[in-house]
Amino acid sequence: MRISEHPVLQFPAKRKVHFVFEGSQLTGYEGEPIAAALHANGIKVLSHSSKDHRPRGFFCAIGNCSSCLMEVNGEPNVRICVEELKENMVVKRQLGKGTFQEVRRFD
Ligand code: FES
Repeated sequence: MRISEHPVLQFPAKRKVHFVFEGSQLTGYEGEPIAAALHANGIKVLSHSSKDHRPRGFFCAIGNCSSCLMEVNGEPNVRICVEELKENMVVKRQLGKGTFQEVRRFD
């Protein structure tokens, strides 16, 4: 689910990293937006609306709308469309406004 060739753009090689999403270990590329890594792994539902619990995914993809808020390393309300992926990050969907959590890392 990634674009690997493009007639105008180039995609320089980046280091592959592991991260955890909802207890499953996934891979992505260091420095890419967390949302891009999730999409590449087939995960498109990033959160659910707090009132009706409808699935939410990307909307603006530039950090302006809050449609992609997730919990990253125990910190709620991270805009994952603009947050860079790092080795061993722990990413979760959050409920409503989210709460701070203690995180177990897989270092
Ligand atoms: S999709 Fe709009 S802030 Fe991330």
